[in-house]
Amino acid sequence: MTDIAHFTVEDGIGVLKIDSPPVNALGVNVRKGLQEGFRRFAADSTVQAIVLICGGRTFFAGADISEFGKPPQGPGLQEVFDLIEAGAKPVIAAIHGTALGGGYELALICHARIAVPSAKVGLPEVNLGLLPGAGGTQRLPRIVGPELALDLITSGRPVGAKQALAMGMVDALAEEGRLREDAIAFARKLIAEGRPLPRVRDRQDKVEAARGKPEIFSKFRQQQARTFRGFKAPENIIKCIEAAVDLDFDAGMKREAELFRELVTSTESAAQRYVFFGERETSKIPDIAPDTPILPIRTVGVIGAGTMGGGISMNFVNVGIPVTLVEMSQDALDRGLGVIRKNYEASARRGKMTAAQVDERMALITPSLGLDALAHLDLVIEAVYESMDVKKDVFGKVDQIARPGAILATNTSYLDVNEIAAATSRPESVIGLHFFSPANVMRLLEVVRGEKTDTSVIATAMKLAKTIGKVPVLARVCPGFIANRLMTPRGRQAEALVLQGPSPYDIDRVMYDYGFAVGPFQMSDIVGLDVIGRGATERTLRGDFVAAGRLGQKKNGGFYNYDENRTPSPSPEALALIADFAKHKGVATLGALADADILARLLYPVVNEGAKILEEGIALRAVDIDIAAIMGYNWPVYRGGPMFWANTVGLPKIVEGLRKLEAREGPAFAPAALLVRLAHEGKGFA
Ligand code: 3HC
Repeated sequence: MTDIAHFTVEDGIGVLKIDSPPVNALGVNVRKGLQEGFRRFAADSTVQAIVLICGGRTFFAGADISEFGKPPQGPGLQEVFDLIEAGAKPVIAAIHGTALGGGYELALICHARIAVPSAKVGLPEVNLGLLPGAGGTQRLPRIVGPELALDLITSGRPVGAKQALAMGMVDALAEEGRLREDAIAFARKLIAEGRPLPRVRDRQDKVEAARGKPEIFSKFRQQQARTFRGFKAPENIIKCIEAAVDLDFDAGMKREAELFRELVTSTESAAQRYVFFGERETSKIPDIAPDTPILPIRTVGVIGAGTMGGGISMNFVNVGIPVTLVEMSQDALDRGLGVIRKNYEASARRGKMTAAQVDERMALITPSLGLDALAHLDLVIEAVYESMDVKKDVFGKVDQIARPGAILATNTSYLDVNEIAAATSRPESVIGLHFFSPANVMRLLEVVRGEKTDTSVIATAMKLAKTIGKVPVLARVCPGFIANRLMTPRGRQAEALVLQGPSPYDIDRVMYDYGFAVGPFQMSDIVGLDVIGRGATERTLRGDFVAAGRLGQKKNGGFYNYDENRTPSPSPEALALIADFAKHKGVATLGALADADILARLLYPVVNEGAKILEEGIALRAVDIDIAAIMGYNWPVYRGGPMFWANTVGLPKIVEGLRKLEAREGPAFAPAALLVRLAHEGKGFA
């Protein structure tokens, strides 16, 4: 027995239980425990079969991700797997929680797999920019066939135990709560039957059936090209499964190892692993103790049934928390409820929920015309028009109505949360909960702490974010907080640069090639040119477009023309409007610019803004900024966010680029003191 590995023998069955919280990742000590256990049971003549089971909340959650990129220690995963697979005694994997990545690959080494119905199995390495590097790409196709393996491994989608049983990914189901007993009984049955147990590596029928059919792979590549764009791992996974079909098992394993090595040393995977830990890190708040009381949130009120208020409400009813939705007029309320119902019905049409579930969710929303309905709720979120006067008025009234201790939240995206809090008698209960549009889809929730916000209110908001499936990032108060403030320079520079020569199409293409789904001009067209920059008092480029009736996708095109399928094409009319506005402003053209210059012009200022956000203490850590950009603005995950990306470019190069821009374009490009210091010290953003 070690701290981690527990060995017992029950009536001829050796039970090896690994207990390494929190998730039994296959780190060095777990590998040692496995090695010791299997050696011991191999040598024990009373043991006829072995059950491998885990303590705590889950079966092995995979290789220990924190070990990647560090010098190898102790026995390698492959060495331990070889030991298990070469053993003469049958091994049964007993699965609860999640058997993921290397954890499921370990189960595939075993002779049989039994799981409780609530368990999930899968190979999610692709989400870390990796591929299953311990035989998963060779063994899974031998069980489910190459076509399904392609889908499962490139999507990383975990499969519930019942479905896994139907697919052959597990061999039997145990009763919930009786995994150990049922696994031992299963082992006894195997021994009693006495039939030889084929190893997964020896199964050939599924891979042989696909041999000589390269169209399986070419079709898959074609279908998934858009989804895989920019990512390295999916292509390597496809190559591995091709190898599983074309080569013998050992040669396939060699190919898998080569292709894994290529990924594990890539910047893309380093970025994705950083994001994996980053998503968890943003919840850790240094000045909030882990035992800070969490307030119960059983009921929520949302003021405003517009696009934001509706999306926000959906997040809560999706997890069964009832929402009171407040509007000023019956019309607005009906419209808002109609949109929510339509969204749910669309999900039902896609098979994501049943018609009954649509009704159940709608029934959790209580529409109301007066603020009085908010009297007894635990949390009230204001999502009204973005005006300080309106917000202060609403908070003043809610202060009179909401019960003592209720959390009062604003969904403002730019305004001063402290000023809003001052409109109440309880600023300690006021916080910003900034959702990103569409609020029921985007995963970022910026939690904005005011000067007086109580720590238990902050801790509750961080916890609540997780309950509704969001990734919380804590911000302090400044205009635009983290994500909007960070990304504003990109939009500003795109609009300035388009007057200096490069076309909107060049600029959008450079952003697309970097990894954004659409560039800033295409995005403007989608949002509508009359929406952004509304109410400007002087002549603006957008104002000229609106005056010319070019409102974007919804009317007459904007920066692009659109056909009836909304396919964009360059627009001579748009270029003429741009040229005219540039002339009016007296802007000189820059001449031909390389793509790298366009990239630097748009994204170096974002990095610079990030540095300012850090040095002002608006964000806690660089990783908080990166997570905000990825979850709130779809910054390509394989770039790791602007701060991680800046490290890969090299901070001295960014400082130099900003200085050149400063000399030509003005002081807006002056590099932040923190950026200059880190570059000088040869450091990166931590
Ligand atoms: N390695 C190291 N640490 C891990 C880990 C792993 N594989 N999986 C989870 N952790 C850590 C988390 O960072 C977190 O640490 P923290 O408490 O200090 O923040 C802690 O374990 C708990 O994790 P979660 O907060 O995510 O707990 P949940 O209960 O919400 O989720 C889980 C559990 C579903 C297992 C989820 O953690 C998960 O998806 N883990 C990653 C699974 C994965 O990708 N496995 C493949 C790894 S790569 C691999 O196996 C390569 C092989 O093919 C060679």
